[in-house]
Amino acid sequence: MAQSPVIMLGIESSCDETAAAIVAADKTIYANEIASQIETHAKHGGVVPEVAARAHLEMIDQVIRDALAAAGLTMGDIDAVAATGGPGLIGGVAVGTVTAKAIAAARQIPYFAVNHLEGHALSPRLADDVAFPYLLLLVSGGHTQLLAVAGPGDYRRYGTTMDDAAGEAFDKCAKAMGLGYPGGPAIEAAAKSGDAKAIALPRPLKGSAGCHFSFSGLKTALVNRLSQLGGPEAAPIADLAASLQAAIADCLADRTKAALTRFRAEFPDDDANQPALVIAGGVAANQHIFAVLQRVAADANFRLSVPPAKLCTDNAAMIAWAALERFDRPDDLAFVPRPRWPLDPEASPPPGRGVRQ
Ligand code: KG4
Ligand code: ZN
Repeated sequence: MAQSPVIMLGIESSCDETAAAIVAADKTIYANEIASQIETHAKHGGVVPEVAARAHLEMIDQVIRDALAAAGLTMGDIDAVAATGGPGLIGGVAVGTVTAKAIAAARQIPYFAVNHLEGHALSPRLADDVAFPYLLLLVSGGHTQLLAVAGPGDYRRYGTTMDDAAGEAFDKCAKAMGLGYPGGPAIEAAAKSGDAKAIALPRPLKGSAGCHFSFSGLKTALVNRLSQLGGPEAAPIADLAASLQAAIADCLADRTKAALTRFRAEFPDDDANQPALVIAGGVAANQHIFAVLQRVAADANFRLSVPPAKLCTDNAAMIAWAALERFDRPDDLAFVPRPRWPLDPEASPPPGRGVRQ
């Protein structure tokens, strides 16, 4: 009789979602449960680490129970357990890590400490069978990175943000404009009736060497224009939203173009097969940004792959899958959560002060 595939419980708790998923080695997703803290954080206008850690603690047992129920499985059916071990808000990472270790110790099953960024990096293979190597643009509230993914554990970071992530820029600008949290969807909706050429805004790092990003100067420019125009009550919000969205799209397109060129140079053997550009993260839901990136990929003769939102925004299925990709190499229960954990320690840092992972 054929052996049934390994069943992995995955746990994600590094930012503002408490999530548990059950995924089999044959890519069957039995459950992918997410308890969002959006309502809690909306009250504070963003994520407050202490509040997030407490919320993870309150929700994690129930989310795991929900995942087992959705899968129609019991804890006895789980063969191994994986949790995000970093990078992220350390209080939340600790909650998921301790929970996974307790399950592993009690059940005597393997434990995996997964790099959250590796979860994102490998998620296209769970969703869409994308072959190595591929270029990943990860654009969310926490990250803005360009990564060449050559294999599990084999990453080259081409670029990252030296300050805010793209989603963070949307969220902070939306807050200033009185549009609420999360800001991306609100700005996209407001932009529909606006003129993207109405307000001149900068494109930080556009045309610069390398593939890094910067969004904080753009945010400051937006906030300054907003107050010059009379603040959220008097300013033309639709025009500001459309102009901001166009500026962010332009920056993402320019840096991605540079990364596609570098990828072609570093993986010349792959020219015969059309390589993939994968876009993951909440910002990819923006239709204008998606359309702009679609053009960038087509112009460079890359196939575009966008995992379904449930797999490319923060989730636990990607954590389970990243562990399944290296099932022969579990981690020790002595693993200590890591607030910083770069995927490519050799990567050149972005210019300026910050080194975001
Ligand atoms: O991947 P995600 O759900 O969670 C993490 O941040 O990890 O991404 C959330 C981010 C938020 O900053 C949100 O404002 C942004 O993605 N976002 C959008 C849109 N939908 C979500 N940004 C622009 N346009 C959207 N339609
Ligand atoms: Zn993430």
